Amino acid sequence: MPLLEVKNLQVHFPIRGGILGRTVGHTKAVDGISFQIEPGQTVGLVGESGSGKSTTGKAILGLVRLCGGRILFDGEDITGYIGRNRSPYRRGVQMIFQDVYSSLNPRKRVLDVIAEPIRNFERMTKAEELRRVHELLEVVGLSADSALKYPHEFSGGQRQRIGVARAIALRPKLIVADEPVSALDLSVQAQVLNYMKDIQRELGLAYLFISHDLGVVRHMCERLLIMHRARFVETGTREEIYNNPMHIYTRRLIAAIPDMNPAAREANEARRKSLEREYNDQFSKFYDADGSVYDLARINDDHSVAIPG
Ligand SMILES: Nc1ncnc2c1ncn2[C@@H]1O[C@H](COP(=O)(O)OP(=O)(O)O)[C@@H](O)[C@H]1O
Ligand SMILES: [Mg+2]
Repeated sequence: MPLLEVKNLQVHFPIRGGILGRTVGHTKAVDGISFQIEPGQTVGLVGESGSGKSTTGKAILGLVRLCGGRILFDGEDITGYIGRNRSPYRRGVQMIFQDVYSSLNPRKRVLDVIAEPIRNFERMTKAEELRRVHELLEVVGLSADSALKYPHEFSGGQRQRIGVARAIALRPKLIVADEPVSALDLSVQAQVLNYMKDIQRELGLAYLFISHDLGVVRHMCERLLIMHRARFVETGTREEIYNNPMHIYTRRLIAAIPDMNPAAREANEARRKSLEREYNDQFSKFYDADGSVYDLARINDDHSVAIPG
């Protein structure tokens, strides 16, 4: 049984206008996407800014109202769980945000930040709680004395570790990691990705790993969901997506992966430019007359792409 099943998810936000603030239209942030995550699996959700990735993550966490579709977690239909914080489901799924700093209360010590979810779900003595927080700090590679410090006393990479410690405090089965390394220096990114992988092995976690950069998720994700304009343009295994990308949007994302190798930079710049041209030339083949993404068509067991049927 899949750990998470998302079926035809739709999230539309009202657009308000005029002095009366009436609803004058809707932004279709997510418009009919379906996918599954198996226990312990890492699935990448990739697309440029505004494609609907964060809204998808928030929908899974029950933080936005769905306007269509269903979400099942561990076989249980949790579609109507919005806002119900203490449900067992809310233990099982946690989120890590890109901007950890704004998600950490600056006036709270690290101890209180990490212990907060524990306090919501478990009865522990202060001593038990402190022991648990020390364990969690150790798992993410921070010293025990970090517990009594405040978020501003840490670097960006260390704050990301605090966010991870908090997210794993309740031993969740799934973590939605929304651009967890995008705000960090390149040198720190690799460290964070590595310990996220270590923690995954240790705790048997599944990740929905959100990024705008196909390079970042390459070594992390077994499956990829490529999102554009509120829909999936292509889904498949890592091998299929990186070795045989079929949608023009996926191909452009791959061309946009930043270069690590200075010697290849010029050649890649040329490739990027030619793909940009290809994208513009072929747009009408890959998107319908309204510019919307087609339904996914199955290429093989490991690969689907949104092309006209
Ligand atoms: N709370 C909201 N109210 C209205 N529009 C929103 C809200 N959240 C996101 N949107 C809109 O939905 C679209 C998708 O946003 P988002 O899911 O944040 O994309 P991404 O994470 O891929 O950058 C954007 O057009 C964004 O402006
Ligand atoms: Mg986002």
